[in-house]
Amino acid sequence: MSTEQQTFPRSRIAGTGSYVPSRVVTNDELARLVDTSDQWIQQRVGIRERRYAAPGEASSDLALVAAQRALEAAGLTPDDLDMIVVGTVTPDTPLPACAAYLQKKLGCKEIPSFDVAAACAGFLYALSIGDQFIRTGMMRNVLVVGVETLTSIMDFTDRNTCVLFGDGAGAVVLSRTDDTSRGWVLSTQLHTDSTLADALCIPAGGSREPVTAEILEQHRNKVYMNGQDVFRVAVRKLTSASLAAVAAAGLEPSDIDWVVPHQANLRIIDQVAARLSVPYERVVINIATRGNTSSASIPIALDEAVREGRILPGHRVLMCALGAGISWASALVQL
Ligand code: UT7
Repeated sequence: MSTEQQTFPRSRIAGTGSYVPSRVVTNDELARLVDTSDQWIQQRVGIRERRYAAPGEASSDLALVAAQRALEAAGLTPDDLDMIVVGTVTPDTPLPACAAYLQKKLGCKEIPSFDVAAACAGFLYALSIGDQFIRTGMMRNVLVVGVETLTSIMDFTDRNTCVLFGDGAGAVVLSRTDDTSRGWVLSTQLHTDSTLADALCIPAGGSREPVTAEILEQHRNKVYMNGQDVFRVAVRKLTSASLAAVAAAGLEPSDIDWVVPHQANLRIIDQVAARLSVPYERVVINIATRGNTSSASIPIALDEAVREGRILPGHRVLMCALGAGISWASALVQL
């Protein structure tokens, strides 16, 4: 594979931010709703607790706090933004985009603001889009958000899925750089293979089968997942996309300082880290307390590791995610 041309301008992550709602939901609490146990969830998935949005708290509310924190870290204001791209499958309303509500709450000027529905890969898709706009010279500062209020689409009678997910938001500000002595987004890789489109989906409630009383009764407007099918493909695709992102930058996995993987299952993270031969202490893991927050999971983990002083300026960070579609993506950035 040819390596990325190091032409300028490039985009760099100028600031990160995240927000999780205050309500903590333990495994024991879910065990009162469905036939599950703290032991099963911890052993099979690695989750101890997750956060749930408050009633009436929408994705744009979570995104707003994450965005404000990212802007502050970047030393910018909403007026400095040229575009907002939000990765989400749980917008405030089906129409308009969550990004439109976010723009309104941020109070910024008339800038393009739109959502990207690539499920758990949504943040990396959004990051890649922002990166392309900056690299063409068209934009200077792009707000990239991953946000989900997954509790709004979870089936709380299905133990296969309801124990897995949480709510939250993460954001980064991508800024143009012409400075070769700083880090930048080194490469992004985006993929979709629809062979397994039905393995992780919301079966009804869209244009094919608009919501009816029967659909509501059968919970077919909620998330369905064949976990084993997704698990098998996840380990393979996350590994191959990660290796591709590293190779595209002309680097080896040993050149990576941190891996920030999508937090879907600790066993998936373990296997991907092993296949990449990345030491475990170089992998950012917060699934125990955040659960799977889909498109928010990577930017939350990234921001937490930055604020904890683990990920430092100059570090090379590899991110990878896979989810419904099946869509998967990776990105290699130097902070
Ligand atoms: O973020 C988007 C991408 N998503 C993923 O990457 C998720 C990938 N998949 C997974 O992480 C795992 O497949 C799950 C965590 C979803 C499930 O774990 P698993 O080890 O694959 O379990 P399984 O589906 O093979 O089920 C094993 C058993 C079944 O019981 P039987 O048939 O063996 O009696 C399930 O009914 O575990 C049962 N089970 C549960 N038991 C207690 C399933 N969910 C639960 C539960 N509590 N919550």
